[in-house]
Parts: sequence; structure tokens; C-alpha cells
Amino acid sequence: MKALVWHGKEDIRYDTVTDPEIQDERDAIIRVTSCAICGSDLHLFHNFIPAMLPGDIMGHESMGEVVETGRGLNGTLKKGDRIVVPFTIICGECEQCRRGNYSVCQRTNRNKSIAEKVFGHTTAGLFGYTHLTGGYPGGQAEYLRVPFADATHIKVPDGLSDEQVLFLSDILPTGWQAVVQCDLEPTDTVAIWGCGPVGQMAIRSAVLLGARHIIAIDCVPERLEMAEAGGATTINFMTESVVERLNELTGGLGPEKCIDAVGTESHVTFSQPDTIYDRAKQMVALESDRAHVLREIIYVCRPAGIISIPGVYGGLVDKIPMGLVMNKGLTIKTGQTHVNRWTDDLLERIDRGEIDPSFVITHSVGLEQGPEMYRVFRDKSDSCVKVLLKP
Ligand SMILES: NC(=O)c1ccc[n+]([C@@H]2O[C@H](COP(=O)([O-])OP(=O)(O)OC[C@H]3O[C@@H](n4cnc5c(N)ncnc54)[C@H](O)[C@@H]3O)[C@@H](O)[C@H]2O)c1
Ligand SMILES: [Zn+2]
Ligand SMILES: [Zn+2]
Repeated sequence: MKALVWHGKEDIRYDTVTDPEIQDERDAIIRVTSCAICGSDLHLFHNFIPAMLPGDIMGHESMGEVVETGRGLNGTLKKGDRIVVPFTIICGECEQCRRGNYSVCQRTNRNKSIAEKVFGHTTAGLFGYTHLTGGYPGGQAEYLRVPFADATHIKVPDGLSDEQVLFLSDILPTGWQAVVQCDLEPTDTVAIWGCGPVGQMAIRSAVLLGARHIIAIDCVPERLEMAEAGGATTINFMTESVVERLNELTGGLGPEKCIDAVGTESHVTFSQPDTIYDRAKQMVALESDRAHVLREIIYVCRPAGIISIPGVYGGLVDKIPMGLVMNKGLTIKTGQTHVNRWTDDLLERIDRGEIDPSFVITHSVGLEQGPEMYRVFRDKSDSCVKVLLKP
């Protein structure tokens, strides 16, 4: 089959690879009908997250039709079923899964012992996301093996298009969880850093969950326009001071709730000298992440506020002012998304027409254009916000 394969830094190719096969009785194989490129894939593209190996198949936002089933699925899935595949592989039975903490499932990471050494504990297996999280082949491919498929799926009705439901795999529940973690009160101002696909889903979620005021921060004009169309007041961090504007917009108090939907690759710009410092340290491997956004959030967040971090960080972050976090009494919540915790509710909301996540798609192309699309998405060229790939 054909797939998008990681070969090294900024080197993703459209290769011919071996077709997946059933390896375990709880496996299913799907024929992928749609998949997408995520901001998290860009961190792999830039080789900022450790433990990728040449030959790894990319992709963790996929859906398709079940074409083969293992013997142990107990009737949960059958050939012809249409499913969205959550990026977190879950067993559905362990202590964490039973609590709905799916992204830290204790059983699905087949490289558990490495994860335990690095993280202190294992986390869930993830599709197409390094050997620390299981080294599972991803779904930017014609076919995908879904391990633990009886638990790891979202069944979708035929009436809804791929475009409407695909993002249940990741960015919609991610934006949603980011806002839920804020424990919104109807009087809250929520500030959201990053108007990429995750930021956009967080804005829409904040509207649905009843924020009083939503402020979105980025520097890409089309993304800021999309944020505004979704109901946010916008700040362009290249032309305005984020801290000054946020204080102005909140009567000098700062936003109560702050969401970091940027993560480890904050833009490097001379107007934010700490980003230059981070970049320099990154180049000599003294630091793994550029944490400008986190520093800005901690500084501007209202005392006793909540900081929600869906943005991915890879390892060691430098110069985080813990003294401010402590003295201001801030709460930090983060994590890979517990996708299946939210998807029944979100699927119903899509079905009722309350939200249509397809608004974010700017490019819909064949899988063979994937390698080029990684660059377009990374560079935000051609007004790119989200790329859908059709194998
Ligand atoms: N927690 C999860 O489960 C989960 C799931 C999906 C994605 N993510 C992470 O969420 C983050 C965003 O993903 P995405 O798909 O939207 O990616 P993206 O790269 O398209 O979006 C990031 C946006 O941040 C903006 N940005 C950069 N520096 C900024 C700054 N200083 N202030 C404000 N905005 C800034 C960029 O211009 C860009 O629009 C990534 O780190 C991704 O890995 C996490
Ligand atoms: Zn993702
Ligand atoms: Zn589990």
C-alpha cells in the first residue's frame, strides 16, 4: 500500500510499504477514506519529539471502513462499519480507562518499559507518534491496523460526511477538553494562544460551553479572521503587545482562563527575545521546547486562574517562573486528549448541527500530495489551516 513515511527531519515521503495484517484477535484493519495532518505531526516533521525511526508511518487522524476483523472483537465491529479512529489507543478495561483517563491507558503502549523509564509511568499507545508511545504505524496511509479495535473506535452514522466527523479523532475533542479543563464560569474571559486547528476548535468549544468573552492570539491573518468569525476578539502578537491588550480587554485584571494551543514550537521573533534564547538552547540540545507562550500565560493570567495546555511539549522546558505560578495560585491542567471521553457527546452535537468542524479544512487533496502538504501546512502558505488527505 501507499503511505506517508518519516525518513528524518523535514523528510516525509509517499512510499510503498507492506500492507497491515491482523496481529492480534482484538485488531481490525480499515481502508482509510480520509486522514489529516495535525500540528503534532509538525513536531515530528521538525524532529523535536524523540524516538521516531526512519520508515515510521505518520498520521493519527484517520477514518475509514472496516475491511478485516480479528476474532476477539465480540461483535463490536464488523466488515463494512464506518469508524473514526481516535489517536489514543485504548484497552477500555484498565484502571485509567475505567476512569476515562484514556490517554494514559496502562495497557496499549507496547513499548511500556521505555515509557516507564522516560516518563516514570507508561502512557497510552498512540498512532504514528514515536516509539515512546508504542511505535504504532500511523493512518496517513491506504490501510490502518487498529489495535484494541473493540474499544479504540468511534462508530459513525452514514448520514454524516467524512469532513464532518474526521476531527472527532483528535482536534475537536482536544479543543473541547482544553475548554472543559478551564471549569468555565459564565463570567469568564478565556484567552486562547494559537489559532491553528486546535485553537479554532477551542474557540468553537468555548462558545458552546458558554464563555463570556473569548480572545484569540496568533500572527497569521487568515487564522485570526477564522477566529473572529468563530466569535473571538483577536490579538496579532506581531503587531501588538499581548500582555497590554489582554489587560486592556479585561479591565486590567487579566483573563481568568488561559489556553496554550501552541505548544513547543512558539514562533521565534526578535520582539520576543526569550524565543531567540530558547531556539539557541534547542540548537545545542540544552532544551527541548520553546515555552514563550507558557511564560506569557503565567504572567498575564488572573490570580487564582486556570491554565489549560493542550499544546504538546516534548521534554525539558527552561525558565518557567514557578514562583509566579505558586504565588498567584494558578492551576495548570494538561495532557494528551482523552478522546473517547468526549466523542459520544460531540458526535451528537455534530449530528444536531450544533457544530460542524469541517469549517477548518482549507485543503483537500490526494494522499500523494502529503509530502508537499506538510510544508504548506508548516509554512501556513496558501492560507492553509487544515489539510485533509484522501488515500
Ligand atoms: N493535547 C493533545 O492531545 C493534542 C492534540 C492535537 C494537537 N495538539 C497540539 O496542539 C498544538 C496546536 O496544534 P495545531 O494543529 O493547531 O497546530 P498549528 O501549528 O497549526 O497551530 C499553532 C498556531 O500557533 C501559532 N503561534 C505560534 N507562536 C505563537 C505565539 N507566540 N502566540 C500565539 N500563537 C502562536 C501559530 O502561528 C499557529 O497558527 C500543537 O502543539 C499540537 O501538537 C495536542
Ligand atoms: Zn494530533
Ligand atoms: Zn486501558
